Amino acid sequence: MVLTAAGCATGKEAARNRVPADPGENIAREVAGGKAIALPASRLTGEMSLEAAVAGRRSERSFRAAPLKLEQLAQLLWAAQGITDPHPDPAQRFRRAAPSAGAQYPLDLYPVVGEIEGLEAGIYRYCPQEHALGLLTPGDRRRQLARACLGQMFVAAAPVAVVITATYDRITDRYGERGIRYAHMEVGHVGQNIHLQAEALGLGTVVVGAFQDEEVAEVLQLPRKEAPLYVMPVGIIQS
Ligand SMILES: Cc1cc2nc3c(=O)[nH]c(=O)nc-3n(C[C@H](O)[C@H](O)[C@H](O)COP(=O)(O)O)c2cc1C
Repeated sequence: MVLTAAGCATGKEAARNRVPADPGENIAREVAGGKAIALPASRLTGEMSLEAAVAGRRSERSFRAAPLKLEQLAQLLWAAQGITDPHPDPAQRFRRAAPSAGAQYPLDLYPVVGEIEGLEAGIYRYCPQEHALGLLTPGDRRRQLARACLGQMFVAAAPVAVVITATYDRITDRYGERGIRYAHMEVGHVGQNIHLQAEALGLGTVVVGAFQDEEVAEVLQLPRKEAPLYVMPVGIIQS
């Protein structure tokens, strides 16, 4: 599978996977030879009820220096933006775990990976259609990310931090200025899904909204029109 720098299939691959409103196709930063890293399939059952996850969820900022499993990261990404549409025709299957105004899907997920078993450290982009990761920048960038979060260094202590970004024109094209409000509503849904999934997996996280936009964008090397909205470090809670 060949990926764009933004981590989604391109060329013939994209044509084969063509779906309505696939925002991956709007992202034009192409890199030849990018490789997709297929993620383990998501689970639809777990050990904790939704009610217990809601009741137990807390913002956690102390993480053990221990890696997460690739399955755990995959499950978190699926809960955030995974394809959950059971339409029998794959070309019609595109709706995701979190609601999106008009199914325009203006958000993207960038796991900033430090210690995930079986995954080299680096900045990745999640590709919902393929349930895969594309490596954008190799190397551990967690400290730079934490500094960009006004020095909230617990961001670097977690084995991974998921950055959620918005590309506003994917939604303002349809809804005008109101689309900006819709993107901000949507990131709340996605953040809460990650929060509850982390809780259900016995992990901890916190939504970080205090950061320098330009500095986070620079760490991730985001295109100018893409803005970071949340940074979510996830790890095993240090008790
Ligand atoms: C929009 C928003 C931004 C936040 N930004 C930060 C942040 O930058 N750093 C942080 O440690 N917590 C941040 N939080 C988490 C809150 O501090 C936390 O939700 C609050 O203290 C309530 O605790 P609880 O989540 O455990 O219920 C943020 C929460 C929201 C909703």
